[in-house]
Amino acid sequence: MADAPKSATLTIGDDTYDLPIHSPTAGPDVVDIRKLYGQAGVFTYDPGFTSTASCDSTITFIDGAEGVLLHRGYPIDQLASKSHYLEVCYLLLYGELPSAKQLEEFESLVTNHTMLHEQMQYFYRGFRRDAHPMAIMTGVVGAMSAFYHDSTDIHDEHQREVASIRLIAKMPTIAAWAYKFSIGQPFIYPRNDLDYASNFLRMCFAVPAEDYEVNPILSRAMDRIFTLHADHEQNASTSTVRLASSSGANPFACIAAGIACLWGPAHGGANQACLEMLKEIGSPDRIPEFIARAKDKNDPFRLMGFGHRVYKNFDPRATVMKQSADEVLELLGVENNPVLAVAKELEAAALADPYFAEKKLFPNVDFYSGVILEAMGFPTSMFTPIFALSRTVGWISQWKEMIADPQNKIGRPRQLYLGETARDYVDIENR
Ligand code: CMC
Repeated sequence: MADAPKSATLTIGDDTYDLPIHSPTAGPDVVDIRKLYGQAGVFTYDPGFTSTASCDSTITFIDGAEGVLLHRGYPIDQLASKSHYLEVCYLLLYGELPSAKQLEEFESLVTNHTMLHEQMQYFYRGFRRDAHPMAIMTGVVGAMSAFYHDSTDIHDEHQREVASIRLIAKMPTIAAWAYKFSIGQPFIYPRNDLDYASNFLRMCFAVPAEDYEVNPILSRAMDRIFTLHADHEQNASTSTVRLASSSGANPFACIAAGIACLWGPAHGGANQACLEMLKEIGSPDRIPEFIARAKDKNDPFRLMGFGHRVYKNFDPRATVMKQSADEVLELLGVENNPVLAVAKELEAAALADPYFAEKKLFPNVDFYSGVILEAMGFPTSMFTPIFALSRTVGWISQWKEMIADPQNKIGRPRQLYLGETARDYVDIENR
């Protein structure tokens, strides 16, 4: 972190405190309060971290007001159109775009680690068939620490690298097998002659009884979905991974924690919730009813796929996702998809409504991803697992950055205690 030439002054009663200000390469300045408690004996209060930077990072930058998302400085729309997922993985992990040779080596490394330990199949079989694939993924990824002992020492740089490649390589197999298990079909093993996205599609949709040819259009669309979800700076699941790993936990345990957090409908679970909502709306004439419910403070319903903590302008990932939805549905010959029709009308109706304009609520990445995934043949329960497999590289990159950071400390927030003060225990007969 650069030296702090500026400072802020905090006055509490008669005392003043100088707090250093750090200037980032992009984004707002950051007031450094690390010494505040030691000097002034007060905590700061920021539930949900709305104004708190929990770390410094060089990986991803978001300008929410302008709708900008950069990975290592490269805009997401350029990466989505010109690059591909494994190249973006390399960029996130190592900081620069790879040379042709580096990319070839990286792709080969990932491709050659896609198989799961054979014993893990029995682990799958312990779940109920109707288990949500996210529940299975949380369990299986956490269990990797019981299968890959030689990559759990976080203080060994080589082991960290091995764990990173293992997680990125095996996550499509883990997700595809969670799906296969849920529909009672045999597990399909990965194939090293296929690219990352094609391999995943084949592991989901092939059966041993007949050949399965991967449609290159679908493979490209799948790869783009992976790319659009690859990282998103200090979001809830990434912060969960960082917090879990701050205790020194092994990488598989930390990524399992990230998957668990991602599952919630306010985060990665929104893609499943959004498609279910679009289907529940069913036809454009019911849109006003749902918009009214979303605006009603007495109704917990929210428009899923709308709003974002950071984006107060359009989500750049949603723009690419919407284009992709149009292209994919047209190429699949399903451009008259009724769910897409509801999505487009709902988007237009919400954007024209003063409630959404005043609160700066725009469609987010989850608004259109489900439409594409459903057209590709995925059930809604697989939407969030696909988000999880895509985000694994982001979690890993942030985890690696954190472990290598000499400032790394156990994460331990403070609190504003509003409970009872000390009181004497009352025997049960006297209560
Ligand atoms: N529908 C209706 N009203 C909304 C919505 C929505 N989707 N989102 C926010 N609001 C209202 C909210 O009621 C609040 O109103 P008021 O100020 O009157 O109390 C105001 O907008 C601010 O909302 P907030 O909950 O304080 O904002 P937040 O930053 O804490 O929450 C969010 C962000 C994404 C959790 C929220 O917008 C939401 O629940 N959206 C729906 C779920 C969703 O699509 N999540 C995916 C996020 S993008 C993918 C990812 O990162 O995982």
